[in-house]
Amino acid sequence: MPPDRRGDTDRYTIGARQFRQQLLPPGSPATTVWGYGSSRHPDTFHYPAYTIEAEIDRPVEVRWVNELVDARGRHLPPLLPVDPTLHWAYPPGGTSGRDSRPSFTSTPGPYTGPVPIVTHLHGGLNTEESDGYAEAWYLPAARDIPRGYASVGSFYEEFRRKFEAKHETRWRPGDAVFHYDNHGRATTLWFHDHCLGITRLNVYAGLSGFYLLRGGPTDLDRGVLPGPAPRLGDPPGTRYYEIPVLIQDRSFNADGSLSYPASRAVFDGFKGPYVPASDISPIWNPEFFAAAMLANGRTWPVLRVEPRRYRFRFLNGCNARTLILKIVTDPLARRPAAAALTPWQIGSEGGFLPAPVRLGQLLIAPAERADVIVDFSGLPAGTELYLINEGPDAVFKGGTAGTDFRPANPKTTGQVMKFVVRPLAAADGSTPPEQLTLPPFQPLGAARLTRRVSLNEAKSARLKGVGPRAVFLGTLDRHGKPVPLEWDAPVTEEPAVGTTEIWEMHNFTADAHPIHIHEVQFQVVDRQRRGQRARPPEAWERGFKDTVLALPNAITRVKVRFDRAGRYMWHCHLLEHEDNEMMRPYVIRAAR
Ligand code: C2O
Ligand code: CU
Repeated sequence: MPPDRRGDTDRYTIGARQFRQQLLPPGSPATTVWGYGSSRHPDTFHYPAYTIEAEIDRPVEVRWVNELVDARGRHLPPLLPVDPTLHWAYPPGGTSGRDSRPSFTSTPGPYTGPVPIVTHLHGGLNTEESDGYAEAWYLPAARDIPRGYASVGSFYEEFRRKFEAKHETRWRPGDAVFHYDNHGRATTLWFHDHCLGITRLNVYAGLSGFYLLRGGPTDLDRGVLPGPAPRLGDPPGTRYYEIPVLIQDRSFNADGSLSYPASRAVFDGFKGPYVPASDISPIWNPEFFAAAMLANGRTWPVLRVEPRRYRFRFLNGCNARTLILKIVTDPLARRPAAAALTPWQIGSEGGFLPAPVRLGQLLIAPAERADVIVDFSGLPAGTELYLINEGPDAVFKGGTAGTDFRPANPKTTGQVMKFVVRPLAAADGSTPPEQLTLPPFQPLGAARLTRRVSLNEAKSARLKGVGPRAVFLGTLDRHGKPVPLEWDAPVTEEPAVGTTEIWEMHNFTADAHPIHIHEVQFQVVDRQRRGQRARPPEAWERGFKDTVLALPNAITRVKVRFDRAGRYMWHCHLLEHEDNEMMRPYVIRAAR
């Protein structure tokens, strides 16, 4: 992403727009997507967004502009069907009260816009006003916003005032300016939309991108790892050996448009009225598993690689799919016996691991990142390899029969991308992973208290077997019984700034949930199934993380240090879950 680098800050103006892009193979129709780009460089609008490259301790300031308007300045309709019965940004019928609850009046037809956005820098140690709080959303500055509509969410004004008291830059209608000071560790962050109740749709439409934080004592010197990464303005023909790879699944209609369920299976053909709190939402699906895999916005792309080492920064940006990645020679072999190439994982969400780990497969839940070295050395030109996915596919059985899981289809969702080896262009000067010394790793100190939280699912009372009515986070009572809470309930987690806590996540559901805590990078302590001994974190979970897979019917413990006062969120990163109540605010209390 091209910055304006004047002074000691990198400044960006980044719009979210609608445009068409070729996601499917050449010859297939193009797809209408939403994506970010530099508002001053129209050719940079792309799904996924161009990467923001930031340096440790050098601030970045981004003006995030909602440009979801047409050529005549009128607001665009949603690209995908909104479920107005969920907690969400836009109460049908007006602006009364908090935006997080529908006003419990029925709306006759589907929601037709305008569409709010708010961007979160995932994994960043941000101030609250720059974090992209789900209720700090804002509409585009369109000419035709209906009378009586709020143009901003209930926390927007408070955060605008706080921001403007600290910084020169003013927010304008249709935007919010966020400041990232880029303290912390060199790592792979990403940004994506976080608007209440429609995050799954805005991200599915294309609003996501990488944010790489480099330099400082927690990075390695240039040349130790394979590089460079692609940069705007590189001379044509530049060879890249460090490649961020955003993996997402998408489904398409025959005309190339994105497909996302317009109704809950049991409500096929549902025409409204949309009556909130009617026990089961008519549109929302508990998880959406799409039919095609995309890497960096292309279905099943091919990367020509040289016989040398590469650094891949894998990001699982799927709405609901947990990926199990392997590199194999034959993607159709039912069970690829052994991976053809065993990558070394060197980093996760919070930067480099304490030491590299060699892995036959990479397990990456939604929002997790794996910084990986793959060594293609010695492979003859013409060798073909595949990055495959053995994570589960969900199969909707229709009606009230619910959902089944089976391994990904080796012909479609079981394939991610292909590598074809070409001749070596330049010798590889990078350090072999087994000889790498990763930057110093300073673990967190002792925790002061243990906080128990719960992960819950409420079945529909009316329609049995169609999955949850909603999923909830919450607390536990004195007897260890879960107390599910909605997004709107008063804040229950209020750690004090400067303290370290253990968060014990008690998962009372039959699903694994990737739980993300904003504002922190934590350490995984252990996992414990009922009646069993606690198990230490996996080898690739020994670094800092911002998202952890909470396994079904188990306790997952993480150690967290809270360094900056403010109002933040913690939530499940299955986007369908966070959009339907599996998200809670939390407040880091200022020191007295
Ligand atoms: Cu990646 Cu709260 O989000
Ligand atoms: Cu979940």
